[in-house]
Amino acid sequence: MEKPHVFITRTIDPAAISSVADSCIVEVWDKQSPPEYEILLKKTESVDGLISLLTDRIDRELITHSNNRLRVISQMAVGVDNIDLAAATESRIPVGHTPGVLTDSVADFTFALLLSVARRVVEANGEVQQGAWQPWGPDVLCGADIHGSSLGIVGMGRIGQAVAKRTLGFEMKVLYYDCSRRPEAEKELKAQYVSFDELLETSDFVSLHANLSKENYHLISTNQFRKMKPNSYLINTSRGPLVDPLALEWALENHIIAGAALDVLEPEPIPLDSPLLKFKNLVITPHIASASSQTRAKMAMIAAKNLLAGLKGDRLPFCANPEVYNTN
Ligand code: DGY
Repeated sequence: MEKPHVFITRTIDPAAISSVADSCIVEVWDKQSPPEYEILLKKTESVDGLISLLTDRIDRELITHSNNRLRVISQMAVGVDNIDLAAATESRIPVGHTPGVLTDSVADFTFALLLSVARRVVEANGEVQQGAWQPWGPDVLCGADIHGSSLGIVGMGRIGQAVAKRTLGFEMKVLYYDCSRRPEAEKELKAQYVSFDELLETSDFVSLHANLSKENYHLISTNQFRKMKPNSYLINTSRGPLVDPLALEWALENHIIAGAALDVLEPEPIPLDSPLLKFKNLVITPHIASASSQTRAKMAMIAAKNLLAGLKGDRLPFCANPEVYNTN
């Protein structure tokens, strides 16, 4: 029997590629940039399995274009908002993803952003590198304290809880908002459940940890910025479209909030002429919250395992559309 054909849309950890290559004919897109949509469409026509990244648009057209040959889509990320899950389910294609393994790396990075923006680390480093080291002065590069402040977590899932855990050493007060209460987080992490408005109105730091959905597109826009305190900061390590970029520009321009730190943006990458790039109190990183070598290797290995399970017709260990197994 011919081995299944697999397309991997970027070079991932070699151990994961080898584990797939043991039983499949593998093609890897080995360029730095993702394959263009037309190329992806073409490649998907003739494969049984696909390992995708969040930079690949996997829409209904691509899924139906695959002519019933494609049996599994395995995404190397926890978020799958680039994939039309409903279309995949209708075509009875399970979609894998990689929850769990990146939780701590993303939580670490959330704290890196929070510390950077509040204590002006990036701005200070920029001054030093440009030869503009100012002599020590009482108000030189003063920022805001983290210890003793309050953190409002929007979305108290795995990553939100891991962020809350990290506040303990900083003796922060943790508030959270989620569509459901999390009694274990309330007990173990002393997190207090509040309404979304109360969270915005009272937190010194607001950190977003929600999946992107139609309902929470531009969850943070002008009205929400208006509710935030003028000395507060917004942190986003989830998905860019949760924050309205025009509203953010307005909020920073008018000192409605003290600053923001974003690992994710709408769109990505940020256009070079974006007015957001002028703000010193806005730290931007290029969607790297899970980017530790250890975590990326684990994500790749889970993606490989999901893929191989799907090709065998087994249930995926981590499936983003489990309802696919309910269809007759
Ligand atoms: C994910 O996995 O969804 C992150 O955004 C990338 O690591």
